[in-house]
Amino acid sequence: MSEDQKRIAAARALEEVRPGMRLGLGTGSTARHFVDLLGQKVAQGLDVVCVPTSEVTAAQARSLSIPLTDLDATPSLDLTVDGADEIGPELALIKGGGGALLREKIVAAASAQMIVIADGSKVVPVLGRYPLAIEVNPFGLRATRVLIEGVMQAQGAEGGLKQRTKPDGSPFLTDGGHYILDALFGRISSPEALSRALLDIPGVVQHGLFLRMAKRAYVATAEGIEVIDA
Ligand code: A5P
Repeated sequence: MSEDQKRIAAARALEEVRPGMRLGLGTGSTARHFVDLLGQKVAQGLDVVCVPTSEVTAAQARSLSIPLTDLDATPSLDLTVDGADEIGPELALIKGGGGALLREKIVAAASAQMIVIADGSKVVPVLGRYPLAIEVNPFGLRATRVLIEGVMQAQGAEGGLKQRTKPDGSPFLTDGGHYILDALFGRISSPEALSRALLDIPGVVQHGLFLRMAKRAYVATAEGIEVIDA
């Protein structure tokens, strides 16, 4: 059911794609549907060029013969379509459940527009139930942890900080070769302040709060598509 909803949201976003567009391709199970549907259009002759936000998405796009570029060759994009773990008020997002947050944020920031696609379960009144992914440099991991825990305490976090691991127990590595620490806040009452405090920590590469980036969300529910504008 939720897979159907993800695909419906993806199909709605595909209607925004015009010939000649430069696109950012998101990561995750919802973005996967978008890439799949885009591949069908490309096979029918749609002319687009795309920047993937992860190696996984790049492999999927290549398998569908979607033309790829990068931000060095194409530094400005028209539109990025990506999923989210939580969609809060004013389209503030938590992303990074798939660990691709850094490239996702770089690509979204290079895009004139970002559209979020999701099923209805992602919409929340307050961000923070979903753990916030914080991408950190492996150098100085423990020191960075201590500083992040200080920020969590100051922000009234209800849960702890956990390093993301692979199924075999070894550290999860992002496409950029960094670690992920997942921070459970429960409630993020000041996303802007939290964002700034985390980015002030030198070992923090990026975090999964996407603020003032998405302009529109297509959220598929049992009742149909809900359009949320920022
Ligand atoms: C990937 O790093 C994430 O930001 C995803 O976009 C997010 O986790 C949503 O994924 P799903 O579409 O699989 O829920």
